[in-house]
Amino acid sequence: MGSAGATWVHQDVCVPQRPDVTPGRGGAGSVLRAVGHYFDADPTVASAPRQVSLALPDLTLALTTDRGVFARDAVDPGTRFLLLEAPPPPPRGHLLDLGCGYGPIAVTMARRSPEATVWAVDVNRRALALTAANARAAGAADVRARSPEDVPDDVRFAAIWANPPVRVGKPALHALLSHWLGRLDDGGRAWLVVHKHLGADSLVRWLSDEGFPAERRRSRRGYRLLEVEGRVGR
Ligand SMILES: C[S@@+](CC[C@H](N)C(=O)[O-])C[C@H]1O[C@@H](n2cnc3c(N)ncnc32)[C@H](O)[C@@H]1O
Repeated sequence: MGSAGATWVHQDVCVPQRPDVTPGRGGAGSVLRAVGHYFDADPTVASAPRQVSLALPDLTLALTTDRGVFARDAVDPGTRFLLLEAPPPPPRGHLLDLGCGYGPIAVTMARRSPEATVWAVDVNRRALALTAANARAAGAADVRARSPEDVPDDVRFAAIWANPPVRVGKPALHALLSHWLGRLDDGGRAWLVVHKHLGADSLVRWLSDEGFPAERRRSRRGYRLLEVEGRVGR
């Protein structure tokens, strides 16, 4: 098991839709203090699970979220855009949700392709536990919520879907994408959602320069949906 040689960035600085806050000592009117650490492998912020709904034309999911994970208060609009606009995932084979959070993408892929194996990868262990529980609750049988190093090296993916952790910074994001896109099967495709303010357009250029042909396929409210092919000439 494992990905010898890969360096995993145990960070997530994805912006939460609303930061977790607790009142400061000064009572009313005091400054609110941010307490959520989205980059922790094991968030220290106290757990406070809640449910959010994800309604799509073909399925509706009730998902448990928690403090210390991305988009705790509602499914992220970029994620929703990806799930509305990406083509159906391949019916069989290994599929990857890269940076799964509490699992809206992984669980949707698994419900749309029940015969596939869906790998849901994250560095945040609270997120992984939520994804596993959400998959069970949704009747998605073969969702494997794993840390990156626990995905066997020989697994190749028929599709990768991701709302990737852009805010880890360019070098870390590029290393992450190079690694996982390099594990696409022949003919496999990745579908990535990235906001234009977070560098979607320069990411398309970088991917293409790196030998991963990439195209912007859809655009709405600043979100770009990118289709990426496996590396050419490998
Ligand atoms: C933008 S969030 C998307 C979460 C979820 N897919 C969603 O749509 O709600 C990106 C996720 O990537 C995870 N992440 C950060 N660094 C990572 C890494 N090196 N490998 C895998 N996942 C990572 C974060 O913990 C976070 O959950």
